[in-house]
Amino acid sequence: MKIGIGNDHSAVEMKNQIKEYLESMGHEVVNYGTDSTDSCNYPEFGEKVGRAVADKEVDCAVLICGTGVGISIAANKVNGVRAAVCSDCATARLVKQHNNANIIAFGARIVGIELAKDIVKAYLDAEFEG
Ligand code: RB5
Repeated sequence: MKIGIGNDHSAVEMKNQIKEYLESMGHEVVNYGTDSTDSCNYPEFGEKVGRAVADKEVDCAVLICGTGVGISIAANKVNGVRAAVCSDCATARLVKQHNNANIIAFGARIVGIELAKDIVKAYLDAEFEG
């Protein structure tokens, strides 16, 4: 799959780790996030990724900020985006199965990297039940 990834300053390291994880699974990853830890305006990155998903530049996307909340709110303002904040694997699976979420978001200040990887995998492995 072609997967977008976006983040703010609080999630640069986690973004890089998740990008590497996705690539290790054979996915192509497009980085729309900041690579700087200087404080930035997180909604810009949520909107950028939301537009990439809505315009079908990518199949789906991962957004990471401090909590996952701010950046997902910004993405959800783009028509056609269904971004869901997930802090556990069951939610990640269910937002695909029941809500057909096309973006998952989580917080670099909330979940650790191993849980973040499991969340991404649970989302990608699940299918919309229509
Ligand atoms: C940035 O400090 C922080 O507010 C942002 O990453 C995010 O948590 C907002 O929802």
